[in-house]
Amino acid sequence: MSSLSARLPAFPWDRLEPYKATAAAHAGGIVDLSVGTPVDPVPALVRRALTDAADSPGYPTVWGTPALRDAITGWCARRLGAEGVGHAHVLPVVGSKELVAWLPTQLGLGAGDRVAHPRLAYPTYEVGARAAGAEPVPYDDVTELDPAGLRLLWLNSPSNPTGRVLSADELRTAVAWARAHGVLLVSDECYLELGWDTEPVSVLHPDVCGGSYEGIVAVHSLSKRSNLAGYRAAFAVGDAAVLGDLLLLRKHGGMMTPAPVQAAAVAALGDDAHVAEQRARYAERRTALRGALEAYGLRIEHSEASLYLWATRDEPCWDTVGDLARHGVLVAPGEFYGEAGARFVRVAFTATDERVEAAVKRLAG
Ligand SMILES: Cc1ncc(COP(=O)(O)O)c(C=O)c1O
Repeated sequence: MSSLSARLPAFPWDRLEPYKATAAAHAGGIVDLSVGTPVDPVPALVRRALTDAADSPGYPTVWGTPALRDAITGWCARRLGAEGVGHAHVLPVVGSKELVAWLPTQLGLGAGDRVAHPRLAYPTYEVGARAAGAEPVPYDDVTELDPAGLRLLWLNSPSNPTGRVLSADELRTAVAWARAHGVLLVSDECYLELGWDTEPVSVLHPDVCGGSYEGIVAVHSLSKRSNLAGYRAAFAVGDAAVLGDLLLLRKHGGMMTPAPVQAAAVAALGDDAHVAEQRARYAERRTALRGALEAYGLRIEHSEASLYLWATRDEPCWDTVGDLARHGVLVAPGEFYGEAGARFVRVAFTATDERVEAAVKRLAG
């Protein structure tokens, strides 16, 4: 029996362990900026919705409650400017990582099929392609891809790890190219509400897709915008035929969002105030860390959105990781996101104000 995991790349985070130990040995404790995990409280209205729905003895549905679908379509209209999104265009999913990792498999892709992803990227796009037995194809420019055998094209804007945002023009070009070649375009937009120097645009915006969702799907998550990474609440929106097919498969296979989490997601999607509050926290941390890193001699590239600063000292990333670890600050080596990141580090600003302040003081010497 051959194991599926044998197809997957090595799990790289183990290589960070010695640096983590160094950082943890700092007298003031570790400031862990290596992962983008939320640390602030789950908004009270979301917790209330979860507990109010705690008495949920029956099975939830894969497609979600009508209230959840309404919350998703309403949010798409309000926050993305998407027009005419109906329930048929919506699929709730259990976490977007899970969707990214299993979408190629659920689309029936396999040997001979190709899945394109940005050259510098969240590693799960490659993992998903490999898990299906398909070939991952990193790209710099969508229009230079060879469409032969290409079945799925991932976009990620704002980007993890670089924070780069694709303009409406770039998105339009990608959509036109994918449609012209019959390739399904899936845009991972989980940081869309976290733009700092620019306003990210969704692939679902009529200026990008022309008001039609044919051949395109956007993936969204409540993990970052609403501090709900622990709840596993995400959704896909777009081509009704593609999502209808996935819905059918998932009805057979399960993958239902738990009912209390569905109720919590309805509350989260209906409220923008907590998002504004959370954004304000991140904006302050970002400004403080950016200033400290630059004063320490790092250069920040892109980073106009998302929860990361993409930084370099024009040296191998592990040297930067090692140096910062000696100050008790742990960051992620850019190499984890592709060879093109070998001279960068990714600095998450998802730490508490107290930890961010500690990092800033240490970097100032
Ligand atoms: C680009 C990108 N997509 C998807 C995810 C997964 O988010 P979640 O599974 O919490 O929805 C992440 C998490 O960091 C991410 O950076």
